[in-house]
This record gives sequence, structure tokens and C-alpha cells, in this order.
Amino acid sequence: KRRIFSGIQPSGNLTLGNYLGALRRFVEKQDEGIETIYCLVDLHAITVWQDPDALRHQTREAAAGFIAAGIDPERSILFNQSQVGGHAELAWLMNCVARMGWMNRMTQWKDKAGKNAEKASLGLFAYPSLMAADILLYHATEVPVGEDQKQHVELTRDIAAKFNHDYKVDFFPQPDSVIEGAATRVMSLRDGTKKMSKSDPSDASRINLTDSPDAIAKKIRKAVTDPEPLPETLEGLEGRAEARNLVNIYAALAGKTPAEVLGEYGGEGFGKFKPALADLAVSVMEPINAEMNRLMQDPAEIDRILGRGAEQADAIARPILEKTYEIMGMVRSR
Ligand code: TYM
Repeated sequence: KRRIFSGIQPSGNLTLGNYLGALRRFVEKQDEGIETIYCLVDLHAITVWQDPDALRHQTREAAAGFIAAGIDPERSILFNQSQVGGHAELAWLMNCVARMGWMNRMTQWKDKAGKNAEKASLGLFAYPSLMAADILLYHATEVPVGEDQKQHVELTRDIAAKFNHDYKVDFFPQPDSVIEGAATRVMSLRDGTKKMSKSDPSDASRINLTDSPDAIAKKIRKAVTDPEPLPETLEGLEGRAEARNLVNIYAALAGKTPAEVLGEYGGEGFGKFKPALADLAVSVMEPINAEMNRLMQDPAEIDRILGRGAEQADAIARPILEKTYEIMGMVRSR
């Protein structure tokens, strides 16, 4: 049985990267009628310092962003991770299956902890094990993500396989990552070699779901590019990371392929392409932004939606968690 699970950290504003790489795909899967479970992973967010009031606000705002982008709480389960205790519980069990060496090889860990691993939280190191627990807790089969999360989903497969092997069971299915579309890796607007990220200190590097139309247009106008006109073919984007990024963003927003975009704009300079991209971005983001602001007028309603989603998620997760405890030899008598 197909079941989709994915998550986004409420550790800052949702970006255009989150939207094109993940959220848009989430809506497509829901609209295909597959069972979909989407989670605001607040337990992952706190692996680096989060101001409590800001975290609460960002969690509600991200929920509003999901709904505004088309996630329908009647058709998808939408909740925040900490409201379903099974995530933390299964993460502990998976901590005892996963190996230190596997965690050490994670590129996100190496990037985030850098040379200062001694000062990183223990949670940041164990982060991929909690992510594996998120997915395995629902026996999810597909995990739509951007390219940067591929390694974590592969690790999830390794953890599932080791569990099944060690306990001689065929219990956890192997989830597949689903990485689709023209914008699976949206880059910073200031540096075409860096991923667009909610945690980049420069706000000009990213477009936020909360940005006004003026802010979006300004950031695109100021995006770093080379001085050459756009090429006619994809090969012409070789070695032009910034140009490629803007073409990919345009393609994803327009629902076209990058080749089609070059068919339209090849030979044109950025003086023409950037305003067209800005108009397109605003036309897609503006309605989402407006709906998000409307939903944020009633945070109690958002909390109700997350609470109800958590109950639905828990109903799926609890039996799977109980079975996991049983397989591992825990006495369960209450
Ligand atoms: P996070 O919060 O960093 O990002 C959420 C989703 O957005 C995608 N994404 C991007 N896609 C394209 N271009 C970008 N610049 C870009 N930036 C982010 C990410 O690939 C991701 O799909 N560990 C995860 C959250 C998580 C999770 C899970 C995901 C926790 N548990 C279980 C799937 C399943 C993360 O930090 O995503």
C-alpha cells in the first residue's frame, strides 16, 4: 500500500526552495489521491537553538503556508511532530539500531557541525535517526524531498534493513525518496554554489513565502548573475550556476522544462528575463502569501487543525510502535 510521508522544519520562514522542492510536490501527491502525511518537524528544529516564542510562531506560520499552498487537512494528515510521542520513542529505538559511523558520513551533519562537532548538540548528530523514525513510524513507502535530503532517506533504508535483519523480521518497508521537478535544488540568489536556505544569514539570498510582491521583485532584480545573455540550449548553462538556477526556478514556477524556458528566452539578457521571472514568481506566491496572512488571523484554528492531525497520525503510528517494542523484546503490559 502506498503511503507518503514528508516533513519540513519550522526553523524559520519557508523559502521558495522549500516550496518548489517539497511543498508543491506534497500538494500534487495529495491531489493524486494517495494517502499523505505531512509533518512540521519541531523536534528536528531544536537540534539547533530555537527561541521558544519564535518556534511556536514559525510552526503555526508553516502550517498556514502548507494550507495556503493547497494542503487540505481533510485529505492529508497535517501535524507537528512533538504532538505524536511515537516519533521520539521510535527515534530512541532506531538510535540503538543505527551506527555512529553511518551518522558520521552524513553530509548535512558535516556541513552543519563543521569543525566544531564538540559544540554541536547530541540531537544534531542523531538527527537522521529521528528522521528515519518519522518515516518508518508510518511504514511510509514514498518520501518526496529536495535533493539535499536524499542521503537521509537512503540512511532510513539502511536502518530499516538492519532492523529487519537483526530481528529476523520483514517489518519495516524500504521507503523511496521521490525527487521530482525542475527545482529539486534551488540555489541562493547571492551565490549559485550555495543552497537556498531558511538559515542563510542574508535574507536577500532567498525568497520567503512571507515576502511581499515588492520584496520578491527586488530580490530577483538584485540576484547575482553573469553578464552573458541566456543560452539557446541546456549545454550553454554549463558552468553558469546562477543562470541555471534562475532558469530552473522559472521552469518550476511555470510548470515547464528548463529547455522550454530557454526556447522562449534564449538569446535574451537578464534585463528582460529577470522582470519576467519576478512577475511569474509574484503571480504564484502572492495568492499563497495572502491566504497565509488570512489564516494567521486565527491561530487557534491552526492549532485545532494540528491537534486533529496529530490524533490521526497517532492512530496510525501507535500500533506500529507497539509492534516494534514487541519485536525488540520489551514487556508491554499496561
Ligand atoms: P528542511 O526543513 O531543510 O527542508 C524541507 C524540504 O524542502 C527541501 N528543500 C529544498 N528543495 C530544493 N531546493 C532548496 N534550496 C531546498 N531547501 C530545502 C528539502 O529537501 C526538504 O524536502 N530533514 C528534513 C526534514 C525532515 C523530513 C523527515 C523530511 C524531517 N523528517 C522525514 C522527509 C521525511 C529537513 O531538514 O528539511
